[in-house]
Amino acid sequence: MEFNIKITSIEKQRDNSSIVIAIFESRQLSPTAEHLDKISNGYLSSLLRHDALEGKIGQSLLLYNVPNVLSKRILLIGCGKQNEMDLQKYRKIMHTIITKLNDSGSMEAVLFLIEPNLSEEKVYWSIRQLIESAHETLYSFNQFKQRSSTTQPILRKITFNVSGQNQWTASIEAIQHSLAIAKGIKIAKDLGNMPPNICNSSYLTLLANQLATTYNNYITTHIINEKEMDSLSMNAYLAVGSGSKNESLMSIIKYKGHLDTNARPIVLVGKGVTFDSGGVSLKPGKNMHHMKYDMCGAAAVYAIMNIIADLKLPLNVIGVLASCENMPGSRAYRPGDILTTMSGQTVEVLNTDAEGRLILCEALTYINRFNPEIVIDIATLTGACVIALGNHMSGLLSNYDPLVNELITASKQANDHVWHLPISKTYQKQIDSKFADIANIGEGEAGAITAACFLARFTKKYHWAHLDIAGTAWDSKNNTGATGRPVALLSQFLLNRSHLKIKSLTKI
Ligand code: BES
Ligand code: MN
Ligand code: ZN
Repeated sequence: MEFNIKITSIEKQRDNSSIVIAIFESRQLSPTAEHLDKISNGYLSSLLRHDALEGKIGQSLLLYNVPNVLSKRILLIGCGKQNEMDLQKYRKIMHTIITKLNDSGSMEAVLFLIEPNLSEEKVYWSIRQLIESAHETLYSFNQFKQRSSTTQPILRKITFNVSGQNQWTASIEAIQHSLAIAKGIKIAKDLGNMPPNICNSSYLTLLANQLATTYNNYITTHIINEKEMDSLSMNAYLAVGSGSKNESLMSIIKYKGHLDTNARPIVLVGKGVTFDSGGVSLKPGKNMHHMKYDMCGAAAVYAIMNIIADLKLPLNVIGVLASCENMPGSRAYRPGDILTTMSGQTVEVLNTDAEGRLILCEALTYINRFNPEIVIDIATLTGACVIALGNHMSGLLSNYDPLVNELITASKQANDHVWHLPISKTYQKQIDSKFADIANIGEGEAGAITAACFLARFTKKYHWAHLDIAGTAWDSKNNTGATGRPVALLSQFLLNRSHLKIKSLTKI
């Protein structure tokens, strides 16, 4: 879809585009609505007097043939109480606008929602929200359906009316950011929705390598295969993939955008289990197909690498796609096995279904060589996190509080929420093993925390945060597939970091 900005007015619109105008609760007219009322000789106020629209969020009214207006359609959109707007409500309004426009058959629309008095910051956020929710609303995954059974969105072009230089500049930046982010979210969703017979580890490496071809000035990729894993002593990683005929592969995607190419990188590690059957500790059959989404952490990391390269962010970032397949079989690892990890610590396997932490701990050890400034891992790690937080918030666990605060700030801005859970010594005891240094599962309680405690034993040398996206990476309730979370959160986190850098540079 195409997004534009213009300095224009209602009178100047021709008949082929639809116009969108805000009405607030208790039939309050926005300044643009007042203007429309004036030029249409009170048409709008007379409609509202007849209770045509109250102005509540979710309400809308489509008008045709409004006096003295050339546009074929005018969409009045309920925006609730004027001073009670928040992000959630705003997103809902944007969703209604996009659905109504698309359903009405509009190919083009001009939005008169950015009033002249709106600050640059508000303009920036309004446009970001609209563009990102437009993509979210119109998303569908049809790659495996015959063409005849699918419908394409009709809406093609949206123009925002703005006023003045400041609004103009803020809009350009917002369009640029949100297009890259929306594209990234689509990449993460598409990849998450892919079936596991196609999206296996080597498929992920193909994508990682392609990225290095597309952005050859900024990105290089290195693939670690089983042979190299063996020479690195990543025995826990190898054990998880040993029951699958698909090779375990770890893709390292390096992006260098920082002015100082030697600046310490931010490292993102994504869990990429392309199918998690549970292994010998086999999962129950019901909903086992959902375990194709067990690579959504890796999909998010891959999507983020696309976004930062697209926006040329002034950062050094390394993305790791830690992928393999967890299957039962005669070569599979078993409960009772003791594995020596790359770090030297030994792990007693008590359940082969707690596989994510076994591949992540090796990836988290491997990346020490990059001397990272910050490490964030993203993983559909525990069913316990779904029990604790449902599908609203991702779990956030960390060994560094300032990083927690930064991530919470970004998550609120991006409407991609997280909840901070504790990691402390008292929980660590639960994963002590009788026969090895660590057990791969706890005693059953606080499963999201004990899983993070396991990872924490491998992340002592750097500032680290863990995002458990088991409840948020896909929508199991409505069966609408991958959500693209937490791409919005992480791209906001990286944008904030880039802005800080740009600001500190301009101060000098
Ligand atoms: N990929 C699953 C976690 C998961 C389960 C995500 C359900 C989303 C929905 C993970 O590998 C797993 O199986 N974890 C086990 C750990 C347990 C054996 C300690 C779990 O949560 O049941
Ligand atoms: Mn599992
Ligand atoms: Zn898993």
